[in-house]
Amino acid sequence: MIWDTAALGGRERYQLLTSLVVPRPIAWVSTRSPERRRNLAPFSYFAAVASTPFLVSVSIGSRGGVEKDTLRNIRQTGAFCVNLATEPQLVPMNESAGEYGPDVDEFERAGLASANAESVDAPYVADCPAVLECRLFKVVELEGGPNTLVIGEVLRVRLADDIPLIPGTLYADTTALRPVGRLWGDLYATIGDMPALKRPSV
Ligand SMILES: Cc1cc2nc3c(=O)[nH]c(=O)nc-3n(C[C@H](O)[C@H](O)[C@H](O)COP(=O)(O)O)c2cc1C
Repeated sequence: MIWDTAALGGRERYQLLTSLVVPRPIAWVSTRSPERRRNLAPFSYFAAVASTPFLVSVSIGSRGGVEKDTLRNIRQTGAFCVNLATEPQLVPMNESAGEYGPDVDEFERAGLASANAESVDAPYVADCPAVLECRLFKVVELEGGPNTLVIGEVLRVRLADDIPLIPGTLYADTTALRPVGRLWGDLYATIGDMPALKRPSV
């Protein structure tokens, strides 16, 4: 099977992309509106971009031609937190994904406690074991479609004390972290086998 993507409709392109680029980590993004209301929503068009500077990106679509609350808040405050979604948080993560209006506080909706980031003006999920406090680095408008790429510079990383580090490093223990990835539709992936491979030395 071969497809020229230009000949496909938007839904078909979405189906191919989201079922082939898997699993995608989930940035559970928390922001504050200019009116100080908390906002929380998951985004799986999420990637590590660079470690120096320390950058991550999230691609945010629009809803009926209108910017999603997350994007509007980030533009206005220049701040967001990426809560890295883990297995114990699958249900509240999904609850926060409803297409609620800007007047809805998804922390309240999902029964989650928040705390305030220290380096940027955004809340984070208090019980999330790994949180990246981000300052807006760049907004890239993606011409030809509804998505906007938001690049954030991570100013501070918060890791729960019960997630061990590999001794002598800042590698967080993946088995303890239990991250989840998004597949397609309603499907998610958890960490399975972790094969280790030494790279060839030349
Ligand atoms: C697991 C998951 C991943 C999602 N990933 C994205 C994404 O990458 N980009 C996007 O625009 N919406 C994504 N969504 C949908 C948003 O979470 C949803 O539109 C949400 O209501 C946006 O909230 P907001 O208006 O408060 O920003 C995803 C939903 C789920 C459940």
